[in-house]
Amino acid sequence: MKWTIATLFFILPIIYITFYMYEYHKYLCKSNYDYPFQDPTLPIDTRLDNLMSLLTPEEKIDMLWMDGATPDGESPNLAVPRLNIRGYSWMGQGYVYRSASNGCNINCFSSVIDGNVSVLPQGTGIASTWNKNLIFQSGIMVSDESMAIHYNYKNRSVDYKTGASSVINIARDPRWGRVPETYGECPILTGEIAVAFNKGIMGYAQLEDTQLEYGIYKVTPIMRHFIDYDGPDNGRFSFNAIISDADLRTTYLPVWKKLIDEKAIVGIMSGISAVNGIPSAANKYLLNDVLRNEWNFTGYVISDCDPVGDIQRSFHYTATLEQAVAISVASGNDINCGPEFKLLHEAIAHGFVNLDIINSAISRGLRSRFLSGNFDPIGSDPYSSIPYSVVDSLEHKLLTKQVASESIVLLQNPKEILPFDITKIKQIAVIGPSSDDISVQAHTYHGTPSKWITTLDGIQSMALKYNVSVVHTWGASRRNTSDEDFTHALALSDESDIILFVGGLDESFEEEDTDRNTLELPGGQFELIRLIMELNKPFAILIISGSPISEPFIVSENQAALLWISYFGQSGDAIAEMLFGLTVPSGCLPFTIPMDTSQILPIDDYSMNKSPGRTYRYLDYNKAPPLFPFGFGLSYSKFTFYSKLIIFPNKINNLDIDITANISIINEGPFRAQFVVQLYYEFPNSTVIELPIRELLQFTKITLENNEQTTISFTFRVRNIPNSNRQQTPGIITFWIGNSRDRYAQATLVIDFDS
Ligand SMILES: *[C@@H]1O[C@H](CO)[C@@H](O)[C@H](O)[C@H]1NC(C)=O
Ligand SMILES: *[C@@H]1O[C@H](CO)[C@@H](O)[C@H](O)[C@H]1NC(C)=O
Ligand SMILES: *[C@@H]1O[C@H](CO)[C@@H](O)[C@H](O)[C@H]1NC(C)=O
Ligand SMILES: *[C@@H]1O[C@H](CO)[C@@H](O)[C@H](O)[C@H]1NC(C)=O
Ligand SMILES: *[C@@H]1O[C@H](CO)[C@@H](O)[C@H](O)[C@H]1NC(C)=O
Ligand SMILES: *[C@@H]1O[C@H](CO)[C@@H](O)[C@H](O)[C@H]1NC(C)=O
Ligand SMILES: *[C@@H]1O[C@H](CO)[C@@H](O)[C@H](O)[C@H]1NC(C)=O
Repeated sequence: MKWTIATLFFILPIIYITFYMYEYHKYLCKSNYDYPFQDPTLPIDTRLDNLMSLLTPEEKIDMLWMDGATPDGESPNLAVPRLNIRGYSWMGQGYVYRSASNGCNINCFSSVIDGNVSVLPQGTGIASTWNKNLIFQSGIMVSDESMAIHYNYKNRSVDYKTGASSVINIARDPRWGRVPETYGECPILTGEIAVAFNKGIMGYAQLEDTQLEYGIYKVTPIMRHFIDYDGPDNGRFSFNAIISDADLRTTYLPVWKKLIDEKAIVGIMSGISAVNGIPSAANKYLLNDVLRNEWNFTGYVISDCDPVGDIQRSFHYTATLEQAVAISVASGNDINCGPEFKLLHEAIAHGFVNLDIINSAISRGLRSRFLSGNFDPIGSDPYSSIPYSVVDSLEHKLLTKQVASESIVLLQNPKEILPFDITKIKQIAVIGPSSDDISVQAHTYHGTPSKWITTLDGIQSMALKYNVSVVHTWGASRRNTSDEDFTHALALSDESDIILFVGGLDESFEEEDTDRNTLELPGGQFELIRLIMELNKPFAILIISGSPISEPFIVSENQAALLWISYFGQSGDAIAEMLFGLTVPSGCLPFTIPMDTSQILPIDDYSMNKSPGRTYRYLDYNKAPPLFPFGFGLSYSKFTFYSKLIIFPNKINNLDIDITANISIINEGPFRAQFVVQLYYEFPNSTVIELPIRELLQFTKITLENNEQTTISFTFRVRNIPNSNRQQTPGIITFWIGNSRDRYAQATLVIDFDS
């Protein structure tokens, strides 16, 4: 054949068209994706169905457990290369968990190994702010830092899309070693704070929103521990909690239901101990009957990292590990933090578990992976553009300081010792083992900030500003009763115009596997405080601990100002600014401070209402008057309720009454200040044994200028549940404003659904 120019003219367009078709086809493939599950424009159910049909049973089983951490932070067994599915982590893996940047593992997402992060206070400190919006903002901060690290940190070691989040167990016993990680003893406060924090980290634009801002999770929190785990921590891997159905329904379950109802939860970690004889990771009643069937929970349940094995090893609930794994997944524990679920391959072969169960478990997990954007094209996550510069930024330092500041609780302030009167002070003595010790600023799981500011650091900066000199010594130890530094501490105190003692606990007294026996200050601290009190000089005591410290002598003498703060994170300057009057205390106790240990039932007794009753909700105040009640907290300013508490009922139908409760408040000064308005209720003539005596209903934190006044309006619904022993009807409900003991204003309402 002879090549001519003409043939060339004939062939070239064909080549061109073929090439164009090929490119076009490639484009089509790209825009249509290889599989529907990859297409983010399709509904999640469609994508999930498609993916479920593509995965083999073996692949599904291997997605149900977690491997150790890998350099890119993703568990490789969660990847399926043949379908282009990249790795994932069900729980930020061990590293996030171990290096969470503050309490409650709240910032489980900001890790110590991946740069400096902003370190918030520990759980009880988050709760003692009683400030939902501030905690929502904190959640945004933590997740901004998480996403900035996730997408920008060059050599990140963990997956920051998901992580073990807050411990929302109820602090029913102050001696439990993990109380510091909780939001305190009240299901209502715990629920409100947990919702606020989670909505911040999950990607809601506003606290009130019911839809995620971008339709996918920013960060997926896993809440811990469902449900029994409230101490004792010593022996927790073989402890069996005996819990009545009434206590389960009124105390232990409501927080979880609230998070589900508010769409503020993604993953749930099952518990560690057993409930009523059944190990938590195998508790079908709790995981399937209550969570799924009753509450319609659509997220996944993951075990903690030992309990699946402990079903067999500690509890001997099954003869073999293979049976333990089978019963765990069949009971509704979808995912295993650990490798035991590998045995599901054998368990299936032996008929201990069937594929339907595997399918439900993995589809619950995969739904969450879809919602976190894990199957979307790389780069499409709307949070991937958050710059690394947000991490440890000035703005975050200020927010962190604000949280620490609002967490401080002023318990007594005789003779207005606080704030310091700088016109009368030339020298301050800062005494005590916790005044210059960063080990009291964080607890168990935490990250590292670029700078830990101790209380002493903060006071020295303030002193420089006001030309006051500071003297300092450790004085007494938390760990031993030695008086070797007493003379020196007393001499420094005596030559100063005001004395600040900073003491309390550190995590070695209250953490995993470590419960307390008593509520007093340990070591030589109380003895030194007593000697300083004898000097009769202006004296302030700051207690740093994650749970209640009870020293009735300090309170009955009423000579020294007394403040409590939880492990407060990076910002000791928040404490100094408050002592010098630049800020005003507004925190309130998230727990009762009992008078002494004799007021508390044995730690392994889970009964809430056995005399004298546990927590403010069941405590008989006549039999066991607390040192300080739940909700207590003073201000430097003076807030007065100048109207009555007015209750407006509006009967909707035979089941529901909507109620508005109004009250007016004025800040009589002398400071601009914040105040937590708390609304409680009780049924004074309750015949329903399982109801709490009293309970927080709602709360709000307000800011008022000096002499400013406002009207607070609470709205809520009272519901009659026919044939239920949980609702007293008809009945008298007493409402009050104040704290769980002290009533500033009160009103009663007679409820009669039949009239
Ligand atoms: C990244 O991390 C890996 C695994 O920890 C380590 O071996 C490597 O040296 C790191 N690379 C850099 C640049 O830090
Ligand atoms: C759960 O879903 C069922 C069926 O849609 C519904 O009837 C029930 O009210 C739901 N329960 C809750 C607690 O939302
Ligand atoms: C963390 O902060 C320290 C100062 O405390 C600094 O030396 C270090 O470079 C910081 N690390 C990163 C990754 O920014
Ligand atoms: C600071 O106080 C010292 C003594 O208390 C005084 O001598 C000095 O002048 C003061 N300095 C300033 C700047 O006020
Ligand atoms: C007691 O604790 C303090 C502070 O940690 C330490 O300096 C001191 O040596 C200890 N004394 C004894 C007798 O153990
Ligand atoms: C409730 O109890 C109080 C005190 O025992 C009593 O005075 C009052 O009459 C009772 N009210 C009702 C409605 O039973
Ligand atoms: C309660 O207070 C709010 C806020 O001031 C006000 O809007 C509302 O009208 C009051 N409700 C009643 C029933 O007075």
